[in-house]
Amino acid sequence: MIILGIETSCDETAAAVIKIDKKRDSLKLLANVISSQIKLHAKWGGVVPNLAAREHLKNILPVIKASLAEAKVSPKNIDFLAVTNGPGLIPALLVGTNTAKTLSYCWQKPLLGIHHIEGHIYANFIGQKHNAIKFPILCLVVSGGHTQLILMKKHLDYKIIGETQDDAAGEAFDKTARILGLGYPGGPAVAEAAKFSKKVQIINYKLPRPMIYSNNFNFSFSGLKTAVLYAVKKDPAILKNKKAVSALCAEFQQAVIDVLVSKTVRAAQKYRPQTILLAGGVSANQELQKQLAKAIKETLKNVSFSFPKTSYQLDNAAMVAAAAYFRLRKSGRQKQLLASWKNMRTEANLKLL
Ligand code: KG4
Ligand code: ZN
Repeated sequence: MIILGIETSCDETAAAVIKIDKKRDSLKLLANVISSQIKLHAKWGGVVPNLAAREHLKNILPVIKASLAEAKVSPKNIDFLAVTNGPGLIPALLVGTNTAKTLSYCWQKPLLGIHHIEGHIYANFIGQKHNAIKFPILCLVVSGGHTQLILMKKHLDYKIIGETQDDAAGEAFDKTARILGLGYPGGPAVAEAAKFSKKVQIINYKLPRPMIYSNNFNFSFSGLKTAVLYAVKKDPAILKNKKAVSALCAEFQQAVIDVLVSKTVRAAQKYRPQTILLAGGVSANQELQKQLAKAIKETLKNVSFSFPKTSYQLDNAAMVAAAAYFRLRKSGRQKQLLASWKNMRTEANLKLL
């Protein structure tokens, strides 16, 4: 079975082709094409939805064509189409969903709408045997739009046990980078500056760990970003001092990691998962990967830890195709799906069901 996945929910135009290897019970990636709009949005300090849509429109067909060429498959070899239909920026999402609907109609192929976060979670299953990741699973989803702890007792079964009350973790990285003049996207810039600080650390900043002791699994990152802003307002010279900026980045990153790790471990102690999964763009943060792995090893018995391979950490379409496979595996109602392009909705705030 071959699935073509499409993703345009934010600032990456992406298409991917996966093949289901039934013998090895695994997903094989044939192509994963991503056209990033980082340069376009960098000068605005963040993603501008209408500019993103215009760029997606320009790129979507070439990106799909490139993915088919790379995978060496033609449209007639494709069994299913899958597209992110939310959540995300509506002008951006609509380019992907309308393209997918059109292709579904013209090629007479069934189409599936996939939740962006479901995609991020299933990025962990690419290149793995299906049963290599054991349930129950506790997912720490950290992206530019989401910060959630999700419990999965089986495939496609989601219970949100905690989430951010304001900014997402990635959003806090992006805003902090903007305050410190580090540009967009903020996550990698802050992480890089924090690395530099390890080498030359002489300044010690102390930022809060919001909600770390709260009696639930929710998060809050907006105040942390404001604390960075106040530090800079109090001492504007920070901005001209590379060592000070990197020390502040290191402390900010550590504050985010402390809260994420502490809440994840506590949630695991309560819900007793067999696996903890990291998902979403912030999963690219190597300090988070390292410190979460260490905390799991030291405090939880027989709990394994998984995070996506580098190419599937940020927005991509391989994860969309992977999630679609698990949906199809469950439903198997291919004929019913064939007509679904007509009623597939595109929703900025699509709920994870
Ligand atoms: O999942 P993603 O690619 O897009 C959304 O669904 O939002 O996540 C993007 C977010 C951005 O906020 C970006 O700054 C953050 O992930 N990010 C990172 C790193 N790489 C990307 N945050 C921290 N450290 C990183 N290395
Ligand atoms: Zn994402």
